[in-house]
Amino acid sequence: MRHIINEVVGSAFGDFTAMLEERGRLCDAKDFRFNEMAIPDYTDPFIQAFYILRYFPAYLVEYYDIYKELLEIPKFANLFNVISIGCGCGLDYYGLELALRDNDRTAADSVCYSGIDIVDWGYRNSFNNDDYDITIQNILDFNRLEDIDEHLDVIIFPKSIGEFSDADFTRLLRLFRRSTFDENELVIISSIRKQHTIIDTQRMTSLLNLMKNEHNYTCGSPKDEYTYYRNPVGLRTHFYEFVYPQTVLDFMIDLKNKCPNMLENDEYCEDDCEDNLRNKWPILKTDHIRYQLFKLNR
Ligand SMILES: C[S@@+](CC[C@H](N)C(=O)[O-])C[C@H]1O[C@@H](n2cnc3c(N)ncnc32)[C@H](O)[C@@H]1O
Repeated sequence: MRHIINEVVGSAFGDFTAMLEERGRLCDAKDFRFNEMAIPDYTDPFIQAFYILRYFPAYLVEYYDIYKELLEIPKFANLFNVISIGCGCGLDYYGLELALRDNDRTAADSVCYSGIDIVDWGYRNSFNNDDYDITIQNILDFNRLEDIDEHLDVIIFPKSIGEFSDADFTRLLRLFRRSTFDENELVIISSIRKQHTIIDTQRMTSLLNLMKNEHNYTCGSPKDEYTYYRNPVGLRTHFYEFVYPQTVLDFMIDLKNKCPNMLENDEYCEDDCEDNLRNKWPILKTDHIRYQLFKLNR
C-alpha cells in the first residue's frame, strides 16, 4: 500500500505543482468542495491531480477494507466480475488489487473489471490485467448493465451514487430495471460520501427495493445500514501501511502560502482565499470511511 500511495501521490504532486506554476494561481483548488451538492469539475487535470492528493490514500484504504470484506464471501475465491460505476481513476480497483494480494492473489488472475466513467481520468493502473476495461461514457447511455458485462457478480458505486441529479438517478433505476441479472448471488456496494450520507444511503435503499420488487432478490441486512468507524482516529492506527508522503503533506497543510499570485503580490485575490485554502488538507482519519455492502440472493 505504501508503495502505491507514494507512486500515485508523487505523480499527482508533480503534475499539480507544474500546472500551478503554469496557471499562476490557486483559484481552482480554492473552490474545490463537495458541500451543498457542489461537484468539482473532474474534466480539469488540475482538479484531478488535486483530488488525488486529497483523497487517493484515504479512499485506497477504504476500498481495500471493502474488498477485504467481499473476499470473505466464498463465491469470490474464484474468478469474478466487477462493474464500477463512476470509477474515476479506478481507485476501487487499486484497493481490490491490494486486498487480493493479502490472499496471495492478484487482480490479473482473479478479476474481470469494467470501470465506467463519464470523465477520462488519469492515474489509472491495470496491474497487467488483460480483463481490465475502462469505458468513458455516461452510464445512462447503456440499455442494460449486461451490455457492459454479460456476467454481473459485483456492482460498486465508489463515492458516486450521490453524484447523479435526481432525474438521472431515476434514469439509473430504470437501467437497473431493464437489466436481466442472471446471477442468483450478487453483491452491490456503495462507498458513501461523508457530507452526503443521507442522500447516498436513501438512494441505495431505492435501488435495493427495486432489486427486490423487479428482480426477486432478497437482502439480509437492513437497507440503510452502513459500516463506519465509531471513533475517528488516524488511518494508520488501523492500517499500518497508510503513510501519506511527508513532503506532499507539508505542502498541502501549508497550501494557503503556496499561491504564486499571492506570493508575488503579497495579497490574496479574494477575501475567502486564505480560509478556503486552509481547509484543503488530505484525509488522514478514519471518519471518511463509510460504506454499504449488500449480499443479494434469490
Ligand atoms: C466522487 S467521484 C469518485 C471517483 C472515484 N470512484 C473515487 O473513488 O475516487 C464520482 C465519479 O462519478 C462519475 N460520474 C458521475 N455521473 C456519472 C455518469 N452518469 N456516468 C458515469 N460516471 C459518472 C464522475 O465523473 C466521477 O468520476
